Amino acid sequence: MNSKSALQALDELIKAAPDTPAMEADPKKTFAAQTGVPDRYRSKWPFPQDLEWLGRMEKIKGQTHHGGMAVLIGPRGTGKTRLAAEAMRYHPCDGILLYARYTTAMGLFLRLRATYGGQSEESENDIVEAMATAPILTIDEIQERGHTAWEDRLLTHIIDRRYGAMLPTILIANLTIASLAECLGESIVSRIQETGGIIRVEGQSHRRGA
Ligand SMILES: Nc1ncnc2c1ncn2[C@@H]1O[C@H](COP(=O)(O)OP(=O)(O)OP(=O)(O)O)[C@@H](O)[C@H]1O
Ligand SMILES: [Mg+2]
Repeated sequence: MNSKSALQALDELIKAAPDTPAMEADPKKTFAAQTGVPDRYRSKWPFPQDLEWLGRMEKIKGQTHHGGMAVLIGPRGTGKTRLAAEAMRYHPCDGILLYARYTTAMGLFLRLRATYGGQSEESENDIVEAMATAPILTIDEIQERGHTAWEDRLLTHIIDRRYGAMLPTILIANLTIASLAECLGESIVSRIQETGGIIRVEGQSHRRGA
C-alpha cells in the first residue's frame, strides 16, 4: 500500500469510527458483553497509524465486507485478535456492536458440550444458529481443539452455513500456512480459496516484556 492510499484508508476508518478515544466510556460504543468479545478488546482502541497495520486491516475489510472469509495467521502477541475485533467494529452493519459474535474454538466446543447434561439454558441448536447467522463471526485459536470428527463436522457445518448465507467470518490461528490446511480440512480451505484469503500477521510481539 502506498502512503497516499494508506492515508485515505486511515481517513475512511476514522470517519467510520463509531466513537473517538475520548468517548470510550460510553457503553453504547463498545461491544456488548453478549458478543463474546473479550473485555480487553471491547472498548474502542485508538488504532495505530502505521502502514503495516492499515494494510492488514484493508485486506480484512476487503474480504469481510462482501461476506467472505479472512484467516489471520501468525505467532503469539502480533495483534491478530485485536485486528479481528477492530475489523468487526467497523463492519458496515446496523447493531454490529450487539450482534457480532466472537468465540475461541475451545470456548465454542465447551459451550456445546455443556448443553448435553441438560443443565444449560441454551440448546446445541441455539448455539449453532447463533454462530451460523451472526452478521460477522470470529473464531479465534482455531488450532486449540480436539480435532475429533464431531468437532470437525460442526465447524464445517457452521462455516458452510455462513458461506451459503454470504456472511463474513474471521478465523485466527497460531499456525503456518502448511499446517493450516490440515487443521481446517478440505471443505473449509476450498471456501477460503473462493471467498477470502490468508493474512499473515507477523513481526514482534506487542505484549509487554515479550
Ligand atoms: N499494532 C499494535 N500496537 C500496539 N499494541 C498492539 C498492537 N496490536 C495489538 N496490540 C496489543 O498487543 C497485545 C497482544 O495483541 P493480541 O492479543 O491481539 O495478539 P494475538 O496475535 O492475538 O496473540 P495470541 O496469538 O497470543 O492470541 C494486546 O494487548 C493488544 O491490544
Ligand atoms: Mg489472540
